[in-house]
Amino acid sequence: MKPYSTLLTEITDGILFITINREDKLNALNKTVITELDEVLEELYNNPDVKGAIITGKGNKAFVAGADISEFKGLDAAAGRTLAQRGHDVFAKIEKSPKPVIAAVNGFALGGGCELAMACHLRVASDNAKFGQPEVKLGIIPGYGGTQRLVQLIGKGKALELLMTADIIDAATAERLGLANAVVPGEELLEKAKSVMGKITVQAPFAIAQVIACVDAHFKDGVDGFATEVELFAKCVATEDFVEGAGAFLEKRKANFKGK
Ligand code: COA
Repeated sequence: MKPYSTLLTEITDGILFITINREDKLNALNKTVITELDEVLEELYNNPDVKGAIITGKGNKAFVAGADISEFKGLDAAAGRTLAQRGHDVFAKIEKSPKPVIAAVNGFALGGGCELAMACHLRVASDNAKFGQPEVKLGIIPGYGGTQRLVQLIGKGKALELLMTADIIDAATAERLGLANAVVPGEELLEKAKSVMGKITVQAPFAIAQVIACVDAHFKDGVDGFATEVELFAKCVATEDFVEGAGAFLEKRKANFKGK
């Protein structure tokens, strides 16, 4: 993998670890981070040795404290649209990844940081994590999908509350609301993310990809999620891994999935 200026990346045991590496700026998402995230996602999509990705932030204070506010100076409507669209495109690539992506939220996940975490399939948080969408304080709204994914994850009433009050919530509250899937002490965060990832990557990879696609279909305008499920179920049945998975159950042995 090529070296990145704002990301640390490594592949260990089939997991692509992506660490946003701007600790002195609380890992704020500037244009370079967005570009490099876009690039490194190619590795997730195209490297057959990579089974899933874990995204985290450098240090123990912040996952990502938002979009980089220093890049907001002088933005006009056209530039604002470009900025938001770019973030939408990259975060959609995370959300639509056929391989699982877990956010290991190790501190502040504010604004674009909360949006990045929400674009991931699951969120594991350290007990010092803080979530929020404080954009209205700056006179803007979330621009990387926050108004949509927050509603999807925690429902309209609580989402509107967080979006309009700019309240920051702690990890326990995030877990209670369904924004965090699990909360653990900071020193156990990566282990927890890896263990959740392991429970997913041991399953049939094609089936996992179809689960992601079906759940996404629920939120797509004009798409019948139930019909999508029927179609994608049929595709699963036609895979070698289905023959292996069902056969292994009947033969009382562990399945050996090949992703075919
Ligand atoms: N964009 C750019 N820089 C940011 C940033 C952001 N979103 N969040 C933090 N930083 C920078 C600070 O400017 C500071 O840089 P400096 O040392 O060069 O001055 C550094 O990161 C440390 O942040 P600081 O504010 O000093 O830390 P803190 O512990 O006092 O406060 C926060 C932490 C998260 C409460 C505070 O940084 C904050 O409110 N950040 C912005 C959150 C936000 O509004 N996000 C949504 C953006 S759309």
